[in-house]
Amino acid sequence: MEDTNRRINGHTRTCGLIANPVEHTLSPVIHNTLAQIQGENLVYVPFRVSEELLGEAVKGAYALNLLGVNVSVPYKSAVIPFLQEVDSLAGNIGAVNTLVRMEGGYKGYNTDMPGLFRAMTEDGVRIEDEKVLVLGAGGVARAVAMLLASKGARQVYLLNRTLERAQEIAAEINGMEKRELVQAMALSDYRRLPEEQYLAIQTTSVGMHPHVNQAVLEDVEFYKKIHTGYDLVMNPAHTRFMQLVEAQGGRAFNGLKMLLYQGIIAYELWTEETVDEALAAQIYAQLQEAVR
Ligand code: ATR
Repeated sequence: MEDTNRRINGHTRTCGLIANPVEHTLSPVIHNTLAQIQGENLVYVPFRVSEELLGEAVKGAYALNLLGVNVSVPYKSAVIPFLQEVDSLAGNIGAVNTLVRMEGGYKGYNTDMPGLFRAMTEDGVRIEDEKVLVLGAGGVARAVAMLLASKGARQVYLLNRTLERAQEIAAEINGMEKRELVQAMALSDYRRLPEEQYLAIQTTSVGMHPHVNQAVLEDVEFYKKIHTGYDLVMNPAHTRFMQLVEAQGGRAFNGLKMLLYQGIIAYELWTEETVDEALAAQIYAQLQEAVR
């Protein structure tokens, strides 16, 4: 790969990532490779920001003329008060991961859910008319449930260790949708799921490195009901959940393509360029290399 330093000059635009910690991020791989291949004079760098300085970091980024900023854990909601505007999807989700420069400040977007949708579309996984299981009921599960609602899922079962959290999300989304789309269920009640074939989306951190031998459920009877399993975890690349899905004949995917496309959509917002599927595949190969 060409040395980034050689391309930096007076015209170079800077983008970056605000998070804490930030050292594990794969986003520089996505954006710097895209910029290099597209011949865009842009660099992307990580910024470790402590909580009490978040507002100043956003202000400072604007003052320093940063073209765009990604925001990651733990600031996706906390950053909202410091923005000039918030896109409606990001507002509904309550989480922003991409800041786009505008007059007077940054506008916040959420490219995580559009990224997941683009990844699923690319993998040939459909949402429309599907019966879907969502595992977990945190912020990510809530956003996923909103995506499922907006893309016409037929029925969503939200399974969580703590039933109340799943009930809160179900009530909220059913209220917005004006239909009984989401049904909350305690994880331990999984045997009560109707005998159907489901798309399952795993949103908890269970199974993430270093706990690679864990999955939220182990019972093969549960996995027999899953035709496609999406684990939003990407480290390890092949999670225990994915292995359990595959062992019962289902297709399984990890969160790496969602990461890829949330980055690509952010890059498209910043540069107003379109990243085609051939280029996306090239970047994906780089990401796979980086996680190996
Ligand atoms: P995020 O915003 O990333 O979704 P979160 O709000 O902390 O994170 O939510 C984490 C989710 O993982 C929750 O659904 C949590 O279940 P509880 O609501 O019962 O806490 C789930 N989770 C975490 N560890 C788990 C475990 N060991 N078994 C089952 N679920 C777990």
